[in-house]
Amino acid sequence: MTWTEYWNQDTTIYVNDRHKRVHYERIAQDVRRLVPGPETRLVDYGCGEAMSADQVAAACGQLVLCDSALTVRQRLEARYADRDNIDVISPEAFEALPSGAVDMIIVNSVVQYLSRSEFARLLRVWTEKLRPHGQLVLADIVPPNVSPYADALQLLKFAAANGFAVAAFAGLVRSYFSDYRQVRAGLGFLQLSEVEVLNAMAEVGLLARRHHPNIGHNARRMTFVGGVQVA
Ligand SMILES: C[S@@+](CC[C@H](N)C(=O)[O-])C[C@H]1O[C@@H](n2cnc3c(N)ncnc32)[C@H](O)[C@@H]1O
Repeated sequence: MTWTEYWNQDTTIYVNDRHKRVHYERIAQDVRRLVPGPETRLVDYGCGEAMSADQVAAACGQLVLCDSALTVRQRLEARYADRDNIDVISPEAFEALPSGAVDMIIVNSVVQYLSRSEFARLLRVWTEKLRPHGQLVLADIVPPNVSPYADALQLLKFAAANGFAVAAFAGLVRSYFSDYRQVRAGLGFLQLSEVEVLNAMAEVGLLARRHHPNIGHNARRMTFVGGVQVA
């Protein structure tokens, strides 16, 4: 199985519907705080099911949801069919956008599923799509010292605070035996240090900094904001 095939099916990542709902609500709240203004053309790259995308769309001019999984895009198209300022596109359509067409790109919890070379290539593509002074946000980056057990602990804390601790514990046991663990071990899981991310963003010409806190519930992971420099 490839990561693309993995994301194109129902996964065991979310332990139940409540987990999925509060996860996407939290992401939407955190992303809204980063939106620079009501005219912003924002791309959520690798958006997943984006169940609270309407909250993000309410804070910007246009929200473009981009995901490589066809089943995910089909669900998004159905969910947001009546929203004028939400578009759903494939990565191929994203790559066909003109240079400088976008104000901000959010890439949350995606980089770990890329190979090192695909990450380097996409960094150039994302940067090229940003207008002068546009911003790239790389979030939920997993540092090398954060183990699956540390991730599990963060999930249990989030679950306890949101009323699904028992389901989270059962879900963690399930995912220990599920294909996620096998696929993660087999296909690789890109973990990057703060310095590696800052250097990679600088290499494509972004003025980058670490942003605190991380987007989402996992305080052990990292978020970075890179701005397109103008001569
Ligand atoms: C862990 S989910 C994250 C979803 C969402 N961003 C969030 O934070 O909940 C990863 C998503 O990235 C998508 N994805 C993975 N690689 C991608 C790529 N190269 N281009 C676009 N989407 C990708 C997957 O299909 C999946 O929906």
